[in-house]
Amino acid sequence: MKRNWIYLLAVCLGIGILIGYWQYRENEGQRQSKKNSIRIGVLLYRGDDTFIGTLRAGLEDKAKEYEQKTGIKVKLDILDSKGSQNTQNSQVERLISLGCDALCINSVDRSSASIIIDKAMDAGTPVVFFNREPVEEDMNRWEKLYYVGADAKESAVLQGDALVDAYRKDSRTLDANGNGLVSYVLLEGETSHQDSLIRTEWSIQTLKDGGVPLEKITGGIANWDRSQASALMEQWLKEYPGQIELVVSNNDDMALGAIDAMNRAGIGANSIKVVGIDGTPVGIKALEEGTLFATVESDKERYAQAIFDIAWSLSLDQDPKSVVPLVNGKYYWCPQRVLTQEEAKLLKNK
Ligand code: BGC
Repeated sequence: MKRNWIYLLAVCLGIGILIGYWQYRENEGQRQSKKNSIRIGVLLYRGDDTFIGTLRAGLEDKAKEYEQKTGIKVKLDILDSKGSQNTQNSQVERLISLGCDALCINSVDRSSASIIIDKAMDAGTPVVFFNREPVEEDMNRWEKLYYVGADAKESAVLQGDALVDAYRKDSRTLDANGNGLVSYVLLEGETSHQDSLIRTEWSIQTLKDGGVPLEKITGGIANWDRSQASALMEQWLKEYPGQIELVVSNNDDMALGAIDAMNRAGIGANSIKVVGIDGTPVGIKALEEGTLFATVESDKERYAQAIFDIAWSLSLDQDPKSVVPLVNGKYYWCPQRVLTQEEAKLLKNK
């Protein structure tokens, strides 16, 4: 009899604990979803990079839009790491100590992401890396690490396809002197950036696969930068007068630098075709004006939206997978498309 009572008491106690725990979880859930403000830290490898500038503007727009839509206040702290990984590491510490709910990081040196990851893991602050992709091993260290970017091989194949199409329609578009070879120069981004290596390889491979007869005159690293590219192109125009027919550039800013040098030398877009990648506003303007031959546009609105959506849901303790289609649970690849001069004009007149 006594044993039955003890048994009953233990069962009641167990049920009581379970109910208590369930209620605690319920209240906790309500408390979390009732956050009325969140703080998101954003770190940029360089604030003066044109492409990164468009993403920054997109993030600011999204923060305002979500604030209006949901009534949840969004504090965005955006800091420029000015090309220094040490500065960025200290900025990460500062943002964590300010109580950021999530960090969006465009790392300076993608191979040093582990230092940032250590700090974020210690503090329990989730990180959305973007544009400069940490190595897979680093990305797999914690479940609260995400990456948003544009697939580099896809950008390059699209860039190459645009040129193959033009060549097939009229070979003289690229082979201006009609000697049966398209003589090109190549402008490359930072050597440490995954996009430079992959874009270079696949643009040229796509041209070859598409049957465009190629001759490489020369190439150089201009670190995504318009003025560095302009200086290189100025030199090449002097070294190889009348020989360059095509400039293949890893991004729009360097393509624009080459066009600057062509303008200074009085060379028009008819004799040298220039192609870029990004579809930045300045790049699209050059397309409309007819100085840039083609570019590959990444959908910057969706790019910024994906970064923001992931940071937003993590800040509210929600699962990002329910709002953003993630590959392998942590990668979002932004859609891209070729933009030619005709398409840019059509878009403008819409
Ligand atoms: C873009 C470049 C940009 C670089 C910065 C690349 O994906 O195409 O324009 O300068 O990222 O990391």
